Amino acid sequence: MAIHPPETKIWWKEPVHSIEIWWVLIALVWSLIMFVMMPYWHVYGEQNLSNEAYRVDPEYFGEKVEDMVKKYTIREEGDTGIPVVAPPVGSDVFLLARLWEWYPILELKKGEKYRLHLSSMDWMHGFSLQPTNINLSIHPGYDFVVTITPTESGKFSIICNEYCGIGHHTMAGRMYVTDK
Ligand code: CUA
Repeated sequence: MAIHPPETKIWWKEPVHSIEIWWVLIALVWSLIMFVMMPYWHVYGEQNLSNEAYRVDPEYFGEKVEDMVKKYTIREEGDTGIPVVAPPVGSDVFLLARLWEWYPILELKKGEKYRLHLSSMDWMHGFSLQPTNINLSIHPGYDFVVTITPTESGKFSIICNEYCGIGHHTMAGRMYVTDK
């Protein structure tokens, strides 16, 4: 039992069993393979998105979102009248996460570049764009920026994939991509 001192106190001078050495070697080689694969997948596998992150005050981020919503709302949807916003091509677009919604609904144009800013108003949420399967962690106090160019038009779902409380399963949003 671990509460008693070991019989041989100088345990690090004990000979290491050859099987243990093999396990250490296997683990080392595997970790090195993973280390190389991370950048490899980024460059050749179109995974592990490049992003920027900045500290941001949630209130300030909320104001940026409201500014965009005021200027570029084109219609409202659903019972709650959530605004659908079509910001100018090439601009900074904002999406906020809060208990328990994604706000607003963005409508982007296919083949055009946008700087997408994501942040949370309360605590950690998971941005999961489906069916594209892009997954990002959204934290309060951080402006997470990804430069995106939608390559497919259609209706996309945004679901929260980080458990965030009682309404987590209802935290679903939407994004539209229109043909030019
Ligand atoms: Cu937000 Cu789960």
